[in-house]
Amino acid sequence: MTARTHSPAPWLARLGAVAALGATLLLAGCERPPVNTSQQGFRGTAMQHTVNPRLAAKEDAARAVPPEDAPPASADGPKAGQVYQNVKVLGDLSVAEFNRHMNAITQWVSPEQGCNYCHVGANFADDSKYSKVVARRMIQMTQALNSQWKVHTGATGVTCYTCHRGAPVPANMWFKPLTPVRNASYGGALGNDFGQNKATGPGLTSLPYDPYSGYLLGEDEIKVYGKQPLPQGIGNGAPIQQAEKTYALMMHFSKSLGQNCTFCHNSQNFGGWVPKKVTAWHGIRMERDINNTYVVPLTDTLPKDRLGPHGDIGKAYCATCHQGQNKPLGGKEMAKLYPGLQVLAPLVTLPPPVAEGGRSVLFFGVGSHDLVADQTKGLESLLTALGGNPRSVVLVSGYHSAAGEKATNQELAKKRAQAVRDALLAAGVAPARVRLDKPQQTEANVVGEDPAARRVEVRLQ
Ligand code: HEC
Ligand code: HEC
Ligand code: HEC
Ligand code: HEC
Repeated sequence: MTARTHSPAPWLARLGAVAALGATLLLAGCERPPVNTSQQGFRGTAMQHTVNPRLAAKEDAARAVPPEDAPPASADGPKAGQVYQNVKVLGDLSVAEFNRHMNAITQWVSPEQGCNYCHVGANFADDSKYSKVVARRMIQMTQALNSQWKVHTGATGVTCYTCHRGAPVPANMWFKPLTPVRNASYGGALGNDFGQNKATGPGLTSLPYDPYSGYLLGEDEIKVYGKQPLPQGIGNGAPIQQAEKTYALMMHFSKSLGQNCTFCHNSQNFGGWVPKKVTAWHGIRMERDINNTYVVPLTDTLPKDRLGPHGDIGKAYCATCHQGQNKPLGGKEMAKLYPGLQVLAPLVTLPPPVAEGGRSVLFFGVGSHDLVADQTKGLESLLTALGGNPRSVVLVSGYHSAAGEKATNQELAKKRAQAVRDALLAAGVAPARVRLDKPQQTEANVVGEDPAARRVEVRLQ
């Protein structure tokens, strides 16, 4: 026996080397252990939160650090709504706190562009930039996220930075995708394939490419779980198309939060309920509210070139806030430092209409010339007086508050007067007996927004 017979044949050694190289290449896509897992479901359900400390450290280093928060300013002193011209949602803050909010918003949304991303020169009251109009609505949205949706946003809360991270346009949002060319097979006879068998879906899967419209804008059911082990005809679960869409949405959830399915599900029972899944359930409803109540109605405010291929605005989904973390910004509680972002600014309620002697006063909403039903009641006694005295006429004068542009406001005051005239005509008063009477001074207060200033006065003569 020679030594040769003991060592592996050279071809075998080569094969071994190739196999080792192959294994290295194959495993290169895997994460190097150890990973930290913490149990978070009921015992035995394998529900866990998995963190690879080396990857996490790298990802954390790559994330933008939130700007330093200045200490809260004093709540004393005059309010922004009294001092400034055109403050509609942050009016209850003290002037100092209001300015601290403006500075923070600039850091969160437009640190490079500065105040003039939203403002025009030194006229801070001017609303002519679309970005300021959008920002005002975004402030209300953030207030709603921290108050009405606390069940999801919790102690961490939400600021503009949660989504914007120092950029005017959030890095993560979705548009309705361009409908791909109709399925080429059979000359297009198969119609739209919704991305099936093409790696265009979430997480580069070949799942449907738009699971968002139905679930995060619409209210499609996310229930596909069969109730029996085997197909049992109609009634056992949902069609395969819906299952695929659900799966695509779930891939988005996993990717957005940087977690596996078992972060939210007990994999023995995907249809069952566990705490994280409940939080996520509220997140889905919150997402529909963000998109339908706040973002989509801003479509016409944005310049056309900011819209997607279907003319739709960029919409929010889980990744918009979460950006790869189970709690956005690692759960840093920034929002609580900003009182202006905590409560939804109360919708201004109108004072009751005044009806005394031969005079009525009817009130209007901010920037509005809609005469609401409650206010028309203020005309009742005047109508009776007109009926009793056929020679009398009424004079109708419109007023506006000092907030905003003067020219627009004068037009608004006129439209308010016209709305009241129309109501009188609709009640049967002859046109010759209703006269519009422009007052010398339509501005009914000195500064800011005042509900008592937005009015129409009607006098019997
Ligand atoms: C991302 C948009 C945005 C940026 C950036 C921004 N603002 Fe504003 N600013 C607004 C909005 C929206 C309002 C109106 C708030 C309201 O209606 O409650 C406003 C109102 C104001 C007002 C009140 C003006 C008035 O008379 O009605 C002042 C003053 C002001 N901002 C100062 C600043 C300063 C100073 C900066 C830069 C440090 C700044 N803003 C940056 C959006 C912005
Ligand atoms: C839930 C995520 C979210 C939060 C929180 C949020 N925004 Fe936005 N913001 C969006 C989305 C989505 C858009 C629409 C994207 C687009 O402009 O195409 C947007 C658009 C904007 C724009 C217009 C950008 C442009 O030039 O097109 C401004 C300005 C803005 N936001 C300001 C704010 C301010 C100020 C706050 C905080 C008070 C805020 N946003 C909070 C998601 C958010
Ligand atoms: C962030 C939490 C979260 C993650 C991660 C997640 N899901 Fe879900 N999943 C939910 C919620 C919430 C629902 C129920 C939604 C509803 O009822 O509106 C759901 C529903 C489902 C359903 C339908 C259950 C039924 O009742 O028919 C299936 C199946 C499912 N998920 C599979 C998965 C898979 C597979 C993954 C991993 C790729 C995953 N999920 C990742 C939260 C999550
Ligand atoms: C407006 C921003 C925002 C959006 C959009 C959002 N989330 Fe959240 N989410 C948060 C915040 C903030 C928290 C942390 C809450 C806390 O501190 O308890 C959170 C927490 C969670 C948690 C619990 C994490 C934990 O470790 O306890 C789950 C699960 C979750 N979100 C799922 C989702 C899903 C799924 C979506 C999309 C349908 C979504 N979120 C969209 C802001 C958001």
